[in-house]
Amino acid sequence: MTARKTIAVIGATGAQGGGLVRSILADADGPFAVRAITRDPGSTAAKALADAGAEVVAADIDDAASLRRAFAGAHGAYCVTFFWAHMSPEKEIAEAHAMAGAARDAGVQHVIWSTLEDSRRWIPLDDDRMPTLMGRYKVPHFDAKAEGDEAFRDSGVSTTFLLTSFYWDNLIHFGMGPRKGEDGSLVFALPMGDKKLPGIAVADIGKCAFGVFKRGKELIGKRVGIAGEHLTGQEMASALSKVLGREVAYYPVPFDAYRKFDFPGADDLGNMFQFKHDFEDYFCGARDIAFSRSLNPALQTFDAWLAANKAGIQIG
Ligand SMILES: NC(=O)c1ccc[n+]([C@@H]2O[C@H](COP(=O)([O-])OP(=O)(O)OC[C@H]3O[C@@H](n4cnc5c(N)ncnc54)[C@H](OP(=O)(O)O)[C@@H]3O)[C@@H](O)[C@H]2O)c1
Repeated sequence: MTARKTIAVIGATGAQGGGLVRSILADADGPFAVRAITRDPGSTAAKALADAGAEVVAADIDDAASLRRAFAGAHGAYCVTFFWAHMSPEKEIAEAHAMAGAARDAGVQHVIWSTLEDSRRWIPLDDDRMPTLMGRYKVPHFDAKAEGDEAFRDSGVSTTFLLTSFYWDNLIHFGMGPRKGEDGSLVFALPMGDKKLPGIAVADIGKCAFGVFKRGKELIGKRVGIAGEHLTGQEMASALSKVLGREVAYYPVPFDAYRKFDFPGADDLGNMFQFKHDFEDYFCGARDIAFSRSLNPALQTFDAWLAANKAGIQIG
């Protein structure tokens, strides 16, 4: 019997990494074993992964030595950063460098780096259709990840660059579900005009990543975009109406209004939606659904995801 190759997963107790851990554990006779990386192996979430059969190892992506220990002996590593935990693009870039360096030092043979586009390639800083943020970004949490690409390229580690999509789970966990208006009617607000937004059930990101590791060499050095469907806000509102059994109206929030919303990062997200809106053809084209399904045959549609999650849809 060939020994199983270990995949070390950053963010193992979270959304993207958690999906990958569960995919590897579910394939008990498959080629991989999983090492779940967490800052706290004593947490309930980490213990649940250990009980399910994962090796659990402590590391922090802000601590290079801990990363080197956590990657030691691993064949593969799933690398992801957590922008919304600190909202610092510089920190995110430094974390990409720490993970790439640790993967190189540990001799990891295949890294998946969860990245996004550099919006400044499409909207240079002097383009005033949207404000420049934090001095040198248009969409800080995209641009920083894209700058992180260089860390992986320069490290010489064999890397697949995974372009993720909007999590439909944001309708549950990120306050993006329908809201009740003063007259009691439901409104789904999204700043996407009449353009399509590539979206995905977050669990499918991990399943697609599992598919990337299984393909191995074929996808090394490649940029791989994934989505479950490309849907307009109107299409999402119609699907919500169907599953909730009551009318949900779509409200295409103007970008400037969204940027001024009173929550941290509203300007970053307003710019992000405008980028996806203004460059719909590119953005959807980079996230091919048939290809995503070839990585993950269980890829969910929005309708299927809604049916499974309707009890959790937040109505604000
Ligand atoms: N929301 C969206 O629609 C969307 C779409 C595409 C991309 N993204 C990107 O996805 C990224 C977040 O990924 P996610 O949603 O999988 O995150 P998540 O669900 O918030 O997972 C965070 C997990 O990572 C661990 N973690 C946090 N800080 C850590 C650190 N310093 N070192 C090691 N582990 C740490 C935590 O585990 P422990 O507490 O166990 O350590 C936590 O369970 C963001 O950068 C965001 O920009 C989001």
